[in-house]
Amino acid sequence: MPERPYVIDKMISAKTIAARIEELAREIEAEYKDTDKLVVVGLLRGSFVFIADLVREIDLPVEVDFLEASSYGDGMESSREVRILKDIRGQIEGRDVLLVEDIVDTGFTLEHVVHLLKSRHPRKLRTIALLDKPSRREAPIKGDWIGFEIPDEFVVGYGIDFAQRNRNLPFIGKVRFT
Ligand code: IMP
Repeated sequence: MPERPYVIDKMISAKTIAARIEELAREIEAEYKDTDKLVVVGLLRGSFVFIADLVREIDLPVEVDFLEASSYGDGMESSREVRILKDIRGQIEGRDVLLVEDIVDTGFTLEHVVHLLKSRHPRKLRTIALLDKPSRREAPIKGDWIGFEIPDEFVVGYGIDFAQRNRNLPFIGKVRFT
């Protein structure tokens, strides 16, 4: 549980997120139109709400898999050391894969997971992140699709947590200590 009291200021509404997901889904459908079954890999735990909304907007056959990586622990700073806590269940060799991340911050998580999945020789691997904090980037990586670029703020909601809290907010809000 966070020690300091904080409030959450709304940053991106549920309606704005839903509208952006519709746009992203059309672009993803165009990119993968020739695939027989797209493998959508969600990075747990922060992407669970995003992936649920995204796959329901994508009008293509999809398989859903999950991978859990850790870098943040319960704090607000990346540990820079990415560990795989849970691997995907399916084989991705020769398959079309879309990796779904909640936020790209330093970029170490995405870089590590992309490297891992590429070593398994998918036919195509693309990445999508709901949020991007470009000013915080340390690893040279960018999502192929980004929902929203945001400033250097600590955000919660829509699946994203602060010390395992606030994942159930329907919108994205920024944490402000009081
Ligand atoms: P990166 O490896 O520094 O890019 O960190 C990516 C991961 O850190 C994300 O998948 C989130 O789990 C977590 N993260 C980064 N920024 C925030 C934030 O503002 N709020 C909550 N979690 C965050």
